[in-house]
Amino acid sequence: MRVLVVGSGGREHAICQQFSKSFKIKKIYCAPGNGGTSQIAENISISVNDFDKLTDFVRGNKIDFTFVGPEVPLSLGIVDYFEAEGLKIVGPSKDAARLESSKIYSKEFMQKYDIPTAQYKSFTNIDNALAFLENLEENKKIVIKADGLAAGKGVYICNGKEDAKNVVEQMMSDKVLGNAGASIIIEEYIGGPELSYLVFTDGISYSMMPASQDHKRINDDDKGPNTGGMGAYTPVPLATDELNKKVASDIVCKVIYGIKAEKLDYKGVLYVGIIMNGSSPYVLEFNCRFGDPETQAILPLLDTDLTDICGAILDKKLTNLKINWKKEFSICVVLASGGYPGSFKKGFEIKGLENIKDKDTIVFHAGTKLENGKFVTFGGRVLSITSTASDIRSAIDKVYSNVKLVHFENMHYRKDIGKSCLHNIIKRTLNGKQD
Ligand code: GLY
Repeated sequence: MRVLVVGSGGREHAICQQFSKSFKIKKIYCAPGNGGTSQIAENISISVNDFDKLTDFVRGNKIDFTFVGPEVPLSLGIVDYFEAEGLKIVGPSKDAARLESSKIYSKEFMQKYDIPTAQYKSFTNIDNALAFLENLEENKKIVIKADGLAAGKGVYICNGKEDAKNVVEQMMSDKVLGNAGASIIIEEYIGGPELSYLVFTDGISYSMMPASQDHKRINDDDKGPNTGGMGAYTPVPLATDELNKKVASDIVCKVIYGIKAEKLDYKGVLYVGIIMNGSSPYVLEFNCRFGDPETQAILPLLDTDLTDICGAILDKKLTNLKINWKKEFSICVVLASGGYPGSFKKGFEIKGLENIKDKDTIVFHAGTKLENGKFVTFGGRVLSITSTASDIRSAIDKVYSNVKLVHFENMHYRKDIGKSCLHNIIKRTLNGKQD
């Protein structure tokens, strides 16, 4: 089979890597790809949003199916476009992708299908939004969300009403997020641990992946500005069998029911962002694709051929496939350019990659480029290094000993990925509970 992966990040490198392990795959293309994907796939210089060129390429190269990584082409209708041309593609339709591309739509969907989520109000008019905030308690924490896609920059946790009013003005009047912030949500603040539940679905049935946890802030101890994600690990000890069952019955089942009831065409991955409200899982957000960097932690544990999963999804026969996961612990640390998520310089040589020889460690490229035979930095998040091991402590030690082998100028990474998980395990053990 021949497959095209659309996208250029660490997530897409991890997807290509899974396809490269499949005996059923003869050739992988990645559009546009990155330095890392160029080692296992053929990079094609076509933008993820140029559907004309992508479909021409797929037809011309007899590609069996396409897998879409990022949200923007999904929100613009890449799946509808390909299917109208009779081409197979894994991803939700434009309408279904609104679960991610419109926070207002997604909240209305949750309300309609009785899916637990924070209380909210939506606004399309700035005066109404400001008047609503005026009636709030002075120092109450409150969340403001842009309705549209904002590349991870659309959610603000505000400390009181003055802060919230400023954010509303920036979004709705100054248009700092462009059209994405023209409509907003004002949402009740819930402060609990967050978990990512990713699910394969064909729109009829679903199969849950092991729960993972992202680390969104740039610095250790969750300090500094939000990023696209600085590391992730899976499985999460907090995600007990009991919690997984609750997420399945109270959330995922209802989403699938809603997808069917709304006649949405959903084939691919659904990402359910959870926040714990006490012992109850609440939905923070839906994404209609694999998460980044969660995917770089999760996929190395996949013990079923991703090609078979895609086939089952495309045939709408996912219910017949048993998907297996290695019973290991996986942790991914992102190496970023100094200055990210603000401005940063590119073009620094990445040194030491050849020193990573551990069989349980994989380097996924994100912002890299191959220049005169050498990898150079080409983005904010440059590499994700993932290690797997039978226990969390060994996986953390392994990943950080490999991170130390790599270097580029101004390299920045978090030193505490997975640490909170370790602390929780120690606490639980001291309290007499075994994980
Ligand atoms: N890790 C967050 C996301 O993929 O949206």
